[in-house]
Amino acid sequence: MQRILVFGATSAIAAAAARVWAGRGARVYLVGRHPGRLQAVTDDLRVRAGAGGVERIGSATADLDDLAAHPALIEQAVAWLGGLDVVLIAQGTLPDQAACEAEVATALREIHTNALSVISLCTLLANRLAGPGRGCLAVISSVAGDRGRQSNYVYGAAKGMVSLFLQGLRNRLHAHGVAVVTIKPGFVDTPMTASFKKGPLWATPAQVGQGIVAACDARRDEVYLPGFWRLIMAIITSVPEAVFKRLKL
Ligand SMILES: NC(=O)c1ccc[n+]([C@@H]2O[C@H](COP(=O)([O-])OP(=O)(O)OC[C@H]3O[C@@H](n4cnc5c(N)ncnc54)[C@H](OP(=O)(O)O)[C@@H]3O)[C@@H](O)[C@H]2O)c1
Repeated sequence: MQRILVFGATSAIAAAAARVWAGRGARVYLVGRHPGRLQAVTDDLRVRAGAGGVERIGSATADLDDLAAHPALIEQAVAWLGGLDVVLIAQGTLPDQAACEAEVATALREIHTNALSVISLCTLLANRLAGPGRGCLAVISSVAGDRGRQSNYVYGAAKGMVSLFLQGLRNRLHAHGVAVVTIKPGFVDTPMTASFKKGPLWATPAQVGQGIVAACDARRDEVYLPGFWRLIMAIITSVPEAVFKRLKL
């Protein structure tokens, strides 16, 4: 039975991935910040898990901005699961870019949540994952981390830091048989993007959740979800800086 730990489990994308794992018999431990939303995700997964749902689906509330609490949180989760095969790290916030430009503290708080909390967890978890062929660390970064744009470069910088950190960690853990999977979604219709106008490029949390589980199964290095974003980002990152800085993106 796969033992799966999900951080930021109340995220629409993470909950969708957890539903797939729970439905196919995994043992899943959910860490989320908002008690009511976490309880709703936990209850839903227990129902999907069927008989033994309460024993297979556990949860804990935590504000992941509190880095000092990470070691005990991981201990507790690993003890409950009886080991650790797959981890998904999903917490994130979409900053108000103008507020980040106006106040340093706001920009740093966003970087703390979107990058530092992730790097703290990855550093601790890298030493706890199961060995060759089983251990898998998946983290939701973003296409926004591939290139800085004026409309959201604080978020993009945090996600870019995560992507680069994961690249190095993957290089380090390869020799230990542990997969590090960088997830780069494009536009996904979730509470984070509730106020955005939707269009043909948008995906559902269920599509992205399934893509995450498939990427972990295949032990991929990096996936764009949906996959067409790889082409879009290849075009965006190939635009020369002298041209790019003149664009309103
Ligand atoms: N939606 C998109 O278009 C898109 C695109 C690319 C990447 N992503 C990334 O995908 C991930 C999941 O986002 P989503 O789209 O599923 O949006 P979402 O439903 O709003 O999920 C974001 C989650 O992060 C949690 N979170 C934020 N700060 C936290 C903290 N300090 N401690 C614990 N949990 C915290 C939130 O918890 P609460 O329930 O307590 O608020 C929420 O569950 C994020 O990393 C996001 O950056 C999203």
